[in-house]
Amino acid sequence: LTDTFTLANNVKIPVLGFGTWQTPDGDVAYQATLDALKAGYRHIDTAAIYGNEESVGRAIADSGIPREDLFITTKLWNTDHGYAETQAALKLSLKKLGLDYVDLYLIHWPNPIDFRNEWQQRNADSWRAMEEAYQNGLTRAIGVSNFQIHHLEELFKTATIKPMVNQLFLNPSDTDDEVVAFNKAHGILNEAYSPLGTGAIFDLPEVKAVANRLNKTVAQVVLRWSLDKGFLPLPKSTHAERIIENGQLFDFELSAKDTATIDNLRGKFGFHKDADQVEF
Ligand code: A2P
Repeated sequence: LTDTFTLANNVKIPVLGFGTWQTPDGDVAYQATLDALKAGYRHIDTAAIYGNEESVGRAIADSGIPREDLFITTKLWNTDHGYAETQAALKLSLKKLGLDYVDLYLIHWPNPIDFRNEWQQRNADSWRAMEEAYQNGLTRAIGVSNFQIHHLEELFKTATIKPMVNQLFLNPSDTDDEVVAFNKAHGILNEAYSPLGTGAIFDLPEVKAVANRLNKTVAQVVLRWSLDKGFLPLPKSTHAERIIENGQLFDFELSAKDTATIDNLRGKFGFHKDADQVEF
């Protein structure tokens, strides 16, 4: 769990992160984050909209793990797009997390409904604030989430620093090949949220067969597949035993045949992406 990818700016990022989307604030988020840190995770992914930054921050503090050993990501919510808004939003996230800096700050969505006709300018303005935050040491890296190619190309017109990460809905059913390839070509790391398809993966007999044969679990097989694709998976769980299980990915390998079986699951549980969000 301490293996790392290296971002374009040479910052190291642990190859597996702990996802906290849909993890309720309060005791649940606190305990789950603490369980993840105890299990050896050093990379925690949260967001302002998840509403759990305070609990996540409390768990980080109580874990006693040195700050420099941790990699913490949070995200700018849709209603905060803009230059001054982004500065204020990051400040508030840091306060809630109880941190002086985060390791990665992401624009959560490219085109919020409130800013449908001005997303280009809003992203450019947010990005300028993020570049400054990066230069001022409030975040060690900056990136985006849910950006399609046209959103990235638009951002590149004004950016002086390219995003280091694009966090996407990536799992065997949805591999978003074109965006993934575009990211790779631009030195942008592909992070995978909902790598277990928000749980849909567990219903597929094809993965169960591979898992049974390898004496691993469905979650482990699918997370291994995600790593093999070069993605950085961010599995979410609120159960300690599953959190531990999801971190045990480094003592087995998938054969070419197993990989092909999982590759063939493309489209199996429908597409999560709200076309209205991403195609605009
Ligand atoms: P729970 O949080 O109750 O453990 P994703 O990361 O793709 O969003 O998937 C998260 C979903 O998968 C959650 O419903 C989570 O439930 C469940 N989950 C996570 N890890 C495992 C696991 N190892 N075994 C079974 N279910 C899991």
